[in-house]
Amino acid sequence: MFNFDEIIDRRKSVGKKWNPNTLDEMFGNPDALPMWIADMDFRVAPAITEAIKEVAEHGIYGYSNAGSAVESYIGWVKRRHNWDIKPEWVLNTPGVVTALDVAIAAYTKPGDGILINKPVYYPFSLIIESHERKIVDSTLVIEEGGAISVDFADFEAKAKDENTKMFILCSPHNPLGHIYSRDELKRMLDICFKYDVLVVVDEIHGDLIMPGQEFTSIGELGEKYANRVIVTQAPSKTFNLAGMQWSAVVIPDADLRAKFQAHIELYDLAIQNPLAIAAVSAAYDEGAEWLDAAIGYIYANFEYLRNALAEALPDARVLDLKATYLAFVDFSYLGLDDESLDKLFAEEIGLALDSGHWFGETGSGYMRFNLATPRANVEKAVELMVNTLQEK
Ligand SMILES: Cc1ncc(COP(=O)(O)O)c(C=O)c1O
Repeated sequence: MFNFDEIIDRRKSVGKKWNPNTLDEMFGNPDALPMWIADMDFRVAPAITEAIKEVAEHGIYGYSNAGSAVESYIGWVKRRHNWDIKPEWVLNTPGVVTALDVAIAAYTKPGDGILINKPVYYPFSLIIESHERKIVDSTLVIEEGGAISVDFADFEAKAKDENTKMFILCSPHNPLGHIYSRDELKRMLDICFKYDVLVVVDEIHGDLIMPGQEFTSIGELGEKYANRVIVTQAPSKTFNLAGMQWSAVVIPDADLRAKFQAHIELYDLAIQNPLAIAAVSAAYDEGAEWLDAAIGYIYANFEYLRNALAEALPDARVLDLKATYLAFVDFSYLGLDDESLDKLFAEEIGLALDSGHWFGETGSGYMRFNLATPRANVEKAVELMVNTLQEK
């Protein structure tokens, strides 16, 4: 019903991922096969395009209210994550990173410590530093067999430090594809509550749950947890709408919400794009079937990659993919430093990937593959790797 195999030429579009100039600047190879930045090479659900066309044909794109998008978002979260969100709890920012920027500015001051779990989505570190706050890292443990866990003794010690004021949690986790259990989530939050550390949860990947896996949104932990934290979600990864710039920030606590709202006003972030509103409403109202099909396709891509590497390059360790469309693969058996591994992939192999070390020291030796792409691209990527790496 949806053709995820279709190759759509993105090299001439304004999209960053396939743009030869961007590939040249970032990877020194304009012809590299791009599997980096997190957007999909799939055409969006047909209902989204129809909704955008309708607004386009209306021909007037003036200042707009988020109205229908917020309603659709709330309905989605209720159906998908069983969380009853009150409309007044929802604020909007253009992106999730903007929401994190605003949260840092609104709730902390320069010099404050902000806890994260590396290796994690690297803009967390970039924005903490650009706001002149301090990165406090409680590194996740990646065990030999690939299991991922929180070092709770370390986490508590870091949360307890008087200077630590905020915890930014990436759940599910990019780039590890990990889903925190209900108990892990409660334990981390309880520790933060105990030491007055404000919790901001980035659930941007919360709808990209692989078949058979179970994700717990913070909203499902009950009011004791949900009403004290800030949760940010978006249709951007889920429905391939990153460029539409529409994200939701859910803040049940009125005082916390007022502070966030004040910063939205301070930076004039409240204006919404009418094309985005239409796209977001259509995605949440009518996109479920497309999303379920896309997830099945992505997981089949993952199984293909894992099996092909197990056969041809058995020393490459592929971490389990429980959520996100981003596979994290350990190539440390090659014994290369970060720079040499980057060069090998970008220039010799011809693949543009996010390097593991961007996400933190423990990511060193890994490469992250964006699998939201037609199977033919994954096959090509495997072929490119096998051709070069089998000789190493
Ligand atoms: C964990 C996480 N947060 C935020 C973002 C980006 O969100 P936005 O484009 O809405 O700022 C990404 C994109 O990959 C991500 O993986």
